[in-house]
Amino acid sequence: MDNKVKVCLIGSGFVGKKHAAAYRNQSDAKLQVVCDTNEDSAKLVAEEYGFERVETNWYKAVVAEDVDLVCVCVPNNLHFEIVSEAIKHRKHISCEKPLGLNSSESEKLVLLAKEKGIVADCCYNIIRIPAITYAKKIISSGDLGKIVCFRGKYDNDRLADPNITFEWRMLKKNSIGGSLCDLAINILAVSQFLVGDIVSVCGMTDIIHLKRKDSNGNLIDVENDDIAQFICSYQNGAMGYISSNRVAPGSKQDMQFEIQFTKGAIRFSMERMNEIQIYKSGENGFSTVISDKQGWFCIGYEELKTLDAQVMLNNIKNKACPDTDFRFATKIDYVIESALESAIKRTWINVKSYSL
Ligand SMILES: NC(=O)c1ccc[n+]([C@@H]2O[C@H](COP(=O)([O-])OP(=O)(O)OC[C@H]3O[C@@H](n4cnc5c(N)ncnc54)[C@H](O)[C@@H]3O)[C@@H](O)[C@H]2O)c1
Repeated sequence: MDNKVKVCLIGSGFVGKKHAAAYRNQSDAKLQVVCDTNEDSAKLVAEEYGFERVETNWYKAVVAEDVDLVCVCVPNNLHFEIVSEAIKHRKHISCEKPLGLNSSESEKLVLLAKEKGIVADCCYNIIRIPAITYAKKIISSGDLGKIVCFRGKYDNDRLADPNITFEWRMLKKNSIGGSLCDLAINILAVSQFLVGDIVSVCGMTDIIHLKRKDSNGNLIDVENDDIAQFICSYQNGAMGYISSNRVAPGSKQDMQFEIQFTKGAIRFSMERMNEIQIYKSGENGFSTVISDKQGWFCIGYEELKTLDAQVMLNNIKNKACPDTDFRFATKIDYVIESALESAIKRTWINVKSYSL
């Protein structure tokens, strides 16, 4: 019992509940404390998932002696302070994406995590999709040749209705980007995992619904992009195109990518998460693969979180560095910032190269 990793969840909103479900499914984890400034929400989550206790003050929750791992599931502008304190108190971290509000916060967290030697992960759970792990294996084998082009998009219609209530993520002080930080960020994680680092971008963004009513009926200006697109070039010479739209009528979780190689191609659509399409030169069209010899199973979004939790706990046990560590997260921040700068300046921008 005492060997279990004791989990502290900060934030009991949409994604906090997914963390609660994911760690409840792990035999080597214990749901210790859930914290939310909305006490009713924290109490409901504690009851539903079985946390030992509830807090409303994140500092008290994070520094508690009976906590080993802190899951940070609050708005982006709060990540830095909470993660910093948690690391200072030598807690392992599973922080939702994006890591900091901006890359300068993320860079500081990279250094802090390194200094304290804890396991520090940013939840780019999208790369845990078994089909994407499988794609990585195929790419690494070299069978498809050299990567020529990556094209990825992530569209949904969650905010397509202009009457949907204003949310924290629409203001710059809470999140530097809109669809870029909600949706394209996931494509960027896949692109970084499968293709490599992006070195330059040229993009555009737009806000389709300029004002939304808050829960009191006040009209608030939306500051972050509803839609974004950019072309890019990769360090390995490949070229790319990435787009995101969170006001796309009819699109649910329409995340798709295609990678073209010199000797083949890969296609993936998240709405068909358990399939991957592969083409090898000489074959008569794409083949759809739904499992490989390792025997991965059919999954959905919640199982992705469960897989992510499993990887996190294994990393803690083995004192291993996560593949989606804070450096991985910081590189993604650099690309988002460059895409935003490019959209404002209407020109190509070189992406900061990673030097930490
Ligand atoms: N990995 C993914 O698939 C994924 C999906 C959605 C959101 N996210 C990320 O997760 C984070 C949270 O997003 P969400 O959609 O769950 O938001 P949300 O608004 O649904 O939930 C945020 C919760 O944080 C609580 N909160 C706010 N300030 C707090 C404080 N000071 N202390 C404690 N609790 C506080 C709120 O009361 C709310 O319950 C964001 O960073 C977002 O980008 C990731």
